[in-house]
Amino acid sequence: MFQNVKEFIANYPTESPKIRKYENYIDFYESIFLKFKNQDIRVLEIGVQHGGSLELWKALTTPSSQIVGLDILPQTKQHEDERVRIFVGDQGDERFLTNVSNEAGEFDIIIDDGSHIPFHQKATFEKFFFENLRDGGIYVVEDCHTSYWRDYGGGLRKSGSFIEFSKTLVDEVNAWHGQRKKAEEVSNYTKQIRAIRFESSMVIFEKAQMTAPKNIELGVETIDVKTLPVAGSMGGIMNRLRKVEFLRSLVRRSPFLWRLMSKQIRRPD
Ligand SMILES: C[S@@+](CC[C@H](N)C(=O)[O-])C[C@H]1O[C@@H](n2cnc3c(N)ncnc32)[C@H](O)[C@@H]1O
Repeated sequence: MFQNVKEFIANYPTESPKIRKYENYIDFYESIFLKFKNQDIRVLEIGVQHGGSLELWKALTTPSSQIVGLDILPQTKQHEDERVRIFVGDQGDERFLTNVSNEAGEFDIIIDDGSHIPFHQKATFEKFFFENLRDGGIYVVEDCHTSYWRDYGGGLRKSGSFIEFSKTLVDEVNAWHGQRKKAEEVSNYTKQIRAIRFESSMVIFEKAQMTAPKNIELGVETIDVKTLPVAGSMGGIMNRLRKVEFLRSLVRRSPFLWRLMSKQIRRPD
């Protein structure tokens, strides 16, 4: 078993099935598979093509780990063996996704390298992230550059793209802190996404059962923060406004006011 993706690439026999991945994905996969080192895990990859990436997942996991592929091409069935099972169908077909979701079981890592069509990526994520990814699992969507390509319905900040959808999930992760949302109004995303990572052309989601954030407080206070004057150029004004929270918040919200007032209170040398 390789633990090093670069070693795998350097030693990949030329006659083996073709694999094509962006270079930046490689370092990321190394760190992710390292997280599951020596564990028997289950990996799902949407998009099999020549089968080269299946070889990579096999090399990075224990011999008892299982790999499931999904592809629209029936020819990809040739890559089935004792460790690999392939489902043939269209990831854009809701019924097919449901069948796979019901039959394939749970996974530690799910990788979407299929059609790269943004609404397929979203529908596939919404199905498999909730129903088939284990807690502590990682969901990777590759080749999200299509979110910026017009012939995939994309474009910069184009609504409906997978990147734009993923950006909205940043707000869901932080929904516990929103002043408009009550704790019970947080979404299933808020409750199940621990982290989102954006890399060039790739979005990665980490799953965990999340609860409302709690502070951990240890040790003794070393500064009397309640009575201590606020330091810095704005200290004077913020101290004078201490009892008028509305005005303090006004200053905090406005870079213009902040600049204006900090100039006004500049102390003589
Ligand atoms: C980029 S290739 C996968 C490459 C492979 N993961 C690798 O790294 O070597 C994309 C694959 O997705 C499959 N595909 C395209 N549209 C699909 C769809 N709607 N549903 C399922 N698979 C699809 C294609 O047949 C192709 O084999």
